[in-house]
Amino acid sequence: DVAALQGVERGRLRLAILTTAKYVVPKLLGGFCAAHPGIEVAMVVGNRETLVQRLAQNQDDLYVLGQPPEHLDVVCEAFADNPLVPIAPPGHPLAGVRAIPPQRLAQEPFILREPGSGTRLTTERFFAAHGARLRTRLEVGSNEAVKQTVAGGLGVAVLSAHTVAAELALGELIALDVAGFPLLRRWQIVYPHGKRLSPAALAFKAWLRDHRPTAAVPSPSAAG
Ligand code: PGA
Repeated sequence: DVAALQGVERGRLRLAILTTAKYVVPKLLGGFCAAHPGIEVAMVVGNRETLVQRLAQNQDDLYVLGQPPEHLDVVCEAFADNPLVPIAPPGHPLAGVRAIPPQRLAQEPFILREPGSGTRLTTERFFAAHGARLRTRLEVGSNEAVKQTVAGGLGVAVLSAHTVAAELALGELIALDVAGFPLLRRWQIVYPHGKRLSPAALAFKAWLRDHRPTAAVPSPSAAG
């Protein structure tokens, strides 16, 4: 119907995405905006806690989240894989070691994201489930800062594979072979249950589903 089609060509789209999805969704947004030049987009990038708060207050049209909290009544559509991998600087003593026990990795100094980060939550839960307590060397507020401090030799970390694809390809970081990894998670497209999505939001949701990225699970390096 013509009116609905016109609705898609104009209007505003408010997105809120996880810091890990920042490595995927903005690129997809490029193609979408080229196809719909009349749509004005505002995109917030935040950690899990920030996005859950925004979702609870219905501040945006669509969210790209991990598992949403159970206390919110929301619609979730699986979008793409978001695996977590352990990373280290090249030349790390554990480089090339096969099936490192989680308890052994936990003895290394760890670089962690800020409280409120879903990456941190998942990582801490995994090691707690293996009876291991992480030795936090440093806590930093972004994936970029975690990567830089790991590359600088301050410790090891667990990050979304999407965030470290470039550094692994360049050899600036290496993936470690730790038993139980990668931790398999998925991004979901989320919105409040019962919310009437705008034509622009429906069109972007369809665009995301049609352009799902394939997961980038790196194979652990054979040598440091
Ligand atoms: P975050 O991203 O660590 O920025 O909260 C979470 C996730 O990818 O689940």
